[in-house]
Amino acid sequence: MAANSNLDLLQEMQAVANAVDSQFDLLLAVPEDPRAVLFKAMRHAAIGGGKRLRPLLVIATSRLFNVDQVSAIKAATAVEALHVYSLVHDDLPCMDDDDLRRGKPTAHVAFGEAEAVLAGDALHALAFDLLSDESTHPDPFVRTEMVSCLAQAAGPSGMAGGQMMDLVAENETFDLQTVTRLQQLKTGALIAACVEIGAILGKVPSEGRTGLRGYAHDLGLAFQIADDILDVEGDEERAGKALHKDEEAGKQTFLSLMGLERAREQAKMLVEQAQSHLSSYGDEADMLREIAAFTVERDR
Ligand code: IPE
Ligand code: IPE
Ligand code: MG
Ligand code: MG
Ligand code: MG
Repeated sequence: MAANSNLDLLQEMQAVANAVDSQFDLLLAVPEDPRAVLFKAMRHAAIGGGKRLRPLLVIATSRLFNVDQVSAIKAATAVEALHVYSLVHDDLPCMDDDDLRRGKPTAHVAFGEAEAVLAGDALHALAFDLLSDESTHPDPFVRTEMVSCLAQAAGPSGMAGGQMMDLVAENETFDLQTVTRLQQLKTGALIAACVEIGAILGKVPSEGRTGLRGYAHDLGLAFQIADDILDVEGDEERAGKALHKDEEAGKQTFLSLMGLERAREQAKMLVEQAQSHLSSYGDEADMLREIAAFTVERDR
């Protein structure tokens, strides 16, 4: 890999962040009617900040298959809208009760709890609205497959299911296998959907996605282990969110089960494993390889 590859990735991340911000800015023009506060809350949560890792995954995967980049950025924005909705709801007083997100007050702190619930609902709907829009992709089969993919990743056998397990993890003792499943659903499912959507945009048949699925699976786990490690030893200002939440809540995580050192080793091993799933691709998959490395090296 080139010595300046890390710099390239950071530049790429910035470009994706700007593109996603512009999309949200266009989509969420504040109307001059009583819904204005809803749009303001959506903008507050969606625009500015965040690593935009999920959009980057959609775009990096789509580039393997020479997908039109206007399509890719729209699909990427849809996935980010879904992710932002999950953060808005995750931070609510009835969930993690957090005041800070992406270095700003959380949506419910800035706009009120009911307003934040509605902003989350609306961002959730926006994700599917975007994926099913003709301007995102001309082929209705591609659009339907993306919608179905994101719906499964967000639902009871995906993120919502994982969030439920996360709640239960406060009061029950889970073994490593159950915690792994929790993480896969809570975080892994959406990350996997990003890679899958990149391949769907490229009209890659399901049987041609095996390597990418292996990559996404291992990346998702590594990503959540890194989030749990950051929760223990990250810097709040850098992370832009409250830390030390998992232990406070008595949550079972990889860390609570295997300790910091083993969790770190596990994350590193998963990154190598993720990269090994890309062996059938050449340089064109370097960005995906770098994203995997970034996932555990990150400090936010
Ligand atoms: C945080 O996700 C929530 C989890 C799923 C662990 P990110 O770490 O990707 O948060 P942003 O998007 O960069 O703010
Ligand atoms: C949130 O997990 C995952 C989702 C939003 C689905 P966490 O609760 O660990 O995320 P942070 O640490 O608040 O970002
Ligand atoms: Mg949570
Ligand atoms: Mg949280
Ligand atoms: Mg966390």
